[in-house]
Amino acid sequence: MSVIVFLLAIGQPSVPATAKAPPLKITAAELHKPGYYPDRIILNLTETPERSLAVTWRTSTLVTTPQVQFAMARENSTFAKSTKTAFAKSTPLKSDLGEALYHSARMEGLNPGMVYAYRVGDGTHWSEWFQARTATEVKDKGNRAPVRILYLGDAQNDIWAHWSRVIRQAILSGTSPDLILHAGDLINKAQNDAEWGDWHRAAGWINASVPSVATPGNHEYPLGLPVGGKSITNLAQHWRPQFNLPENGPKGLEETCYFLDYQGVRLISLNSNERLAEQAKWLEGVLANNPCKWTIVTFHHPVWSGAKTRDSQAVRQAWRKILETNRVDLVLTGHDHTYARGVSPEASGMEAGPYTDHGTVYVIAVSGPKMYEPSKLPWMRTSLKDTQTYQLVEVGEHSIRFRAITPDGQYVDSFDIERRDDGTNRVVEKGQGGQPAPKPATDSGKGSKIGQLGVERGDKQNVGSPSESLAGQVPTSLMAALAMISLGGILAGVSYWKK
Ligand SMILES: [Fe+2]
Repeated sequence: MSVIVFLLAIGQPSVPATAKAPPLKITAAELHKPGYYPDRIILNLTETPERSLAVTWRTSTLVTTPQVQFAMARENSTFAKSTKTAFAKSTPLKSDLGEALYHSARMEGLNPGMVYAYRVGDGTHWSEWFQARTATEVKDKGNRAPVRILYLGDAQNDIWAHWSRVIRQAILSGTSPDLILHAGDLINKAQNDAEWGDWHRAAGWINASVPSVATPGNHEYPLGLPVGGKSITNLAQHWRPQFNLPENGPKGLEETCYFLDYQGVRLISLNSNERLAEQAKWLEGVLANNPCKWTIVTFHHPVWSGAKTRDSQAVRQAWRKILETNRVDLVLTGHDHTYARGVSPEASGMEAGPYTDHGTVYVIAVSGPKMYEPSKLPWMRTSLKDTQTYQLVEVGEHSIRFRAITPDGQYVDSFDIERRDDGTNRVVEKGQGGQPAPKPATDSGKGSKIGQLGVERGDKQNVGSPSESLAGQVPTSLMAALAMISLGGILAGVSYWKK
């Protein structure tokens, strides 16, 4: 039989290579052309994350009835028979590739700590059903759910080719984030629609399933002028139409300077590109009236730089004192295309000493492939060269666990910020240089949930939440695999200051 097949095969006329048609070149306009079906779907957190979710998507200009359908998720598809509808507000956007409509809607009246299914469309052309979870309410302190934040530095370059694996691996590794935090420079050229399209398609359904917050970097400002510059240009025209972020900051800085409280964590975004002094006053007010136990601030330009040549002095002068005297726990930034973490140089005794007025922990990270040469500077406790990372920041009742992880699974920086009974913090080093993170423990100290990366969730009302169900599915073999990969990293000599 095989002989017959062989004879038949050699009997076929061969096609000379020269006769093949050249590969079709798809243009950027064709690749990113909007249609009737929604794309660039992204969830954003609102200022009331327990009760609402914001969603934005894109279509062609022909769509006239944009809407979101939503319902509490069930174990089967029957939720789709009893949905609510919210109609969207549309904003036209004319980019270098053509015209499109961006639609923004809010799912309101949701219950805290529950999983909702939703889809977006025009009544005829629909997305698939996604599901996402609302924040739990902070009722009693002992049962507050830990908040899991996936923090990403600049994506910016070769987004489709080289950033996609980072954000995808961040999810595949079992982080189960409640939200994704982008610290600016999501793209390289602010007015380039293809780059924004690549950013959205690299994240794909992740953006539609985990709410994001984002702060703009200099590359979201078309000319990328220096921080503090007086002639700074306007924010990228894509920003406000494609995101649906809080508008509770200073007038004119909506969706770039804002705050929200998520399960006992005050999250603040500052826009480090313009009007720094005005934001300083606003920040003082937001920090002075802060009921949350933990405070995390994000902006793009770091207070302390990753290299001697990249000092963002204007930011430091405008905001550092306010951040530190108000005991902001973490400041998450980007911009310097390196990884670095530390405290202000004069702060001392991080491990054993008291939380001083200089105890705020500063982090610089980069998730995209572009890298700059770091300097070894006094403020740094850790610095990594040529390393793309994602960060899992888990904010529990008594501590923040911070893990910087590479897309190939190495834990390259790990530390905890522990809150003492007297209200002060201390930073506890948990390992650097490719060492695997220690076996996670719960905030109550009762030990870890098998296979779960990080703090066990404290909320009991969210049966079926993405976090819990995923956590339950992450096998111990994954942890073993991560440990093996991490060991490989050590053997390969990938470590602090060795790259
Ligand atoms: Fe930047």
